[in-house]
Amino acid sequence: MADKPKKLRSTDWFGGEGKNAFMHRSWMKNQGLPADQFDGRPVIGICNTWSELTPCNAHLRDIAERVKRGVYEAGGFPLEFPVMSLGESNLRPTAMLFRNLASMDVEESIRANPIDGVVLLVGCDKTTPALLMGAASCDIPAITVSGGPMLNGDYRGQKIGSGTHVWRVFEDVKAGKISTADALAAEQGQSRSPGHCMTMGTASTMASMVEALGIGMTDNAALPAVDARRRVLAQMAGRRIVDMVRQDVKMSKILTRDAFENAIRVNGAIGGSTNAVIHLIAIAGRLGVELSLDDWDRLGRDVPTIVDLMPSGRFLMEDFCYAGGLKVVMRALAEKGLLHLDAMTVTGETVGQIVRDVPNYNPEVIRGFDNPLTEHGGIAVLRGNLCPQGAVLKPSAASEHLMRHRGRAVVFENIEHYHARVDDPALDIDENCVMVLKNCGPKGYPGMAEVGNMGLPTKVLKKGITDMVRISDARMSGTAYGTVVLHTAPEAAMGGPLALVRDGDMIELDVPARRLHLEVSDAELAERRKSWVPPQPPQGGGYQRLYVDHVLQADRGCDLDFLVGKRGADVPRHSH
Ligand code: FES
Ligand code: MG
Repeated sequence: MADKPKKLRSTDWFGGEGKNAFMHRSWMKNQGLPADQFDGRPVIGICNTWSELTPCNAHLRDIAERVKRGVYEAGGFPLEFPVMSLGESNLRPTAMLFRNLASMDVEESIRANPIDGVVLLVGCDKTTPALLMGAASCDIPAITVSGGPMLNGDYRGQKIGSGTHVWRVFEDVKAGKISTADALAAEQGQSRSPGHCMTMGTASTMASMVEALGIGMTDNAALPAVDARRRVLAQMAGRRIVDMVRQDVKMSKILTRDAFENAIRVNGAIGGSTNAVIHLIAIAGRLGVELSLDDWDRLGRDVPTIVDLMPSGRFLMEDFCYAGGLKVVMRALAEKGLLHLDAMTVTGETVGQIVRDVPNYNPEVIRGFDNPLTEHGGIAVLRGNLCPQGAVLKPSAASEHLMRHRGRAVVFENIEHYHARVDDPALDIDENCVMVLKNCGPKGYPGMAEVGNMGLPTKVLKKGITDMVRISDARMSGTAYGTVVLHTAPEAAMGGPLALVRDGDMIELDVPARRLHLEVSDAELAERRKSWVPPQPPQGGGYQRLYVDHVLQADRGCDLDFLVGKRGADVPRHSH
């Protein structure tokens, strides 16, 4: 799989006796670096999303030190550098708005610097795709090291999961079942160690995708952030990346079409986040690998979800780790003939070699295909006149009785309208209605916020009802659940059919038939379109302007149109 290494990129900066090399080396030496570091050994960038504003990644300085040890041990020269960090819990209007911006930071930082290979330190949801996208556009050797999940949440003797219990606790507060003091205890106990969300939310899903794609080390998905083995993993990644540079194993040799197909199947088996659909399409787009929504439906459709983790199931990432982690799931898929076993990984072994004979230590957490959590895991891709470019739904997080449902639309024009209206006692709504939320897509919000699992009206919750069909152009947190149609494209803010839905229209959802239909004639829709006024973008200039002007729809991964593709790592001109 390896080409003979050509001259290393870094030699262009640090090699030789000329004036440029003097300058490049001399300034670096102010950090106390011995001369032999510049003797032509591989320079390894450690691309760090550490930030105290990204709590999920706040421990990554320590992980970076472990990577450095490994790089030194293998005879490389490690250099840590920061890139924009994206913390899901704090960023407004939504971290997703900045995924592409961070990816640009990553791409340009790698290409512009004397880096031969890179270790990507990630954790919180958007940090993983942002770094993979940016590095993929440069296509140099890379290994992704995730920061690992938090320990299981603990609340009065119960296990509680990041995000998932936020929704549950607040439904209970709204329904009058628990006090605000109870909610505070849950807040304290939910996040009790370093690491990212420990449900099978987007962060854990993406850490699993990293391992499934072969771009991370074995056990990258599940080892808790505080587990000493996570630090060992980081050190081993440091050793491996030096070898990969010597063998010139570029990202494109790992992230092949086969690797993406493996990842989609794994996503079905773990009951992974719908956000992975968007992120994997975007990463593939950077490498020129064709990947579409239909691939998601076709490959994931018949994969049962066998990992019993919240939000779909009962357990958490710590339990998943002790059960044996992702390689056990991959073994089960391999035995069903559902994986490309020849796919090469950054470990130097193929998928087939890694998963052979790995034991399952807890069949309650990682169940068998004969006893799945959900028969049809994966992601359902819906089509119909309401979503000509598709929409998605996660069957494992949905309610069985709503998978075929016809109901009257109750429309919220935007997120403010939803907040103002949902608990209005005069609102004519019951559990059979279909809640429709507009203008929360990539351009509309902007950034496609995770508001698709909009909370149910209090009067419905008080009846003990916990789910209703909801449709929007938004995303949903990977920690959320419900019969929620997401990523409807084209989005309302672009004049997609979603923009034309009115209160009282009948909508039919048929997940087994993959159908989403608005029962309004084409003629009537054309009539309504005449009076449709596009919403004003919320901010006129700056990055938001660039984003709104160039963002692609969800079916194309929400990348910026001009960022799609691989631009390589060559820079012909010097800076002086
Ligand atoms: Fe960072 Fe969930 S908020 S992973
Ligand atoms: Mg999330």
